[in-house]
Amino acid sequence: MRHLAARRRSPLALLVVLLLGLAMTGTAYAALQPKAEPGTSVATASTDEIAAGRQLFLANCAFCHGTNAQGAAPEAPEAQAGPSLVGVGAAAVDFQVATGRMPLAAPGVQAPANRDSVLLSQEEITALAAYVDSLGPGPDVPAQEWIDLEGADIANGGALFRTNCAMCHSSSGAGGALTRGKYAPGLMNVEPQHIYEAMVTGPQSMPVFNDANLSPEDKEDVIAFVKDIENGGNSYGGHALGALGPAGDAMFIWTFGIALLIASAVWLGRKAR
Ligand code: HEC
Ligand code: HEC
Repeated sequence: MRHLAARRRSPLALLVVLLLGLAMTGTAYAALQPKAEPGTSVATASTDEIAAGRQLFLANCAFCHGTNAQGAAPEAPEAQAGPSLVGVGAAAVDFQVATGRMPLAAPGVQAPANRDSVLLSQEEITALAAYVDSLGPGPDVPAQEWIDLEGADIANGGALFRTNCAMCHSSSGAGGALTRGKYAPGLMNVEPQHIYEAMVTGPQSMPVFNDANLSPEDKEDVIAFVKDIENGGNSYGGHALGALGPAGDAMFIWTFGIALLIASAVWLGRKAR
C-alpha cells in the first residue's frame, strides 16, 4: 500500500489517469452516440433490388454521374458533368427521375421537368433510388401518411407557403423567373409526393426544407394548400387573369384602361365640335 502511495505523485501516474479518462470518454461516446437512422428504402430494399438499381444506374446515369455515383465522370463533357449522388437520398432520385428531369436530356442552366417522357418505370425508379440510397443516407421518399392530405390544415399551409415559397413560386404557385435565366416552375398538377420530395431535397436553387424548418405535418399542410389552389379553392371570384398577380392586373388595366381613356377622349372631342 505504502509502495503505491509513493508512486501516486510520480508524473507517470498523471499520464495513466489521463489515458484512463480519455479511454472512458471514448467508450461512453461510442455507446451513447445517436445512431444514424437508416433510410427506410434501404431497410426495406432487398440486395437484389439494389443490384438491379446499380445495373440501371450504369446504363442510364453513370455517363454523367460516374460509375460509382461519385460525380463528374471524366468522359462526360463539362456542361453535363453530374454532381456526386452519395447522400442525396432516395427522395432526390425519385423526384428527379419521376418528373422526367433525369436522365438529363440536354445541358442547360436548369434541368427542366419533362413529365411526358419519363424514361423509366416506377419500379425501376424505386430500384435506382434504393441503389443510390445504399451509398449514403439521405432524405427518403415520404410515408403515405404525409401525402394523403387527410386532416391537413389548408389555412396553416397557406401561411407557410406565403412565408417560405411565394417569393420564388409566386403567391398563387404559378411560378416565376429567378436570376441568370433560372426559374421556379409552376406548382399546378405536381404529384403530392414530388412536392414533398422537392421540399426535402431542394433541387438546384431551391432551398432544402428539412424537418426542423417544416415538420412533416407542415409539409402536408403546404401540399394541401397547393392542391386547394389547383382546385380553384383560393380564387376570390372574378377572372383569375392567369393568376400572375400584380403583373396580370397591370397588363389588364394597361390594355383595357388606356383603350377606355382614349375612347372617352375621342368621344369628348366629338361632342365639343
Ligand atoms: C447528361 C448527363 C446526365 C445524365 C445522363 C444524368 N444526370 Fe443526373 N444530373 C446531371 C446534372 C448536370 C445535374 C445537376 C444539375 C441539375 O440538377 O440540373 C444532375 C443532378 C441529379 C440529381 C440531383 C442531385 C442533388 O444534389 O439533388 C439526381 C438525384 C440525379 N441527377 C440523378 C440521376 C439519375 C438517377 C440518372 C439516371 C437515370 C441521371 N441523373 C442521369 C447530369 C446527368
Ligand atoms: C429560392 C427560390 C425557391 C424557394 C424559396 C422555393 N422554391 Fe421550389 N423550386 C425552385 C426552383 C428553382 C425549382 C426548380 C428546380 C429544378 O427544376 O430542378 C423549384 C422546384 C419546385 C418543385 C418541383 C416542381 C415541378 O415542376 O416538378 C416543387 C414542387 C417546389 N419547388 C415546391 C416548393 C415549395 C412547396 C416551397 C416552399 C416550402 C418552395 N418550392 C420554395 C425555387 C424555390
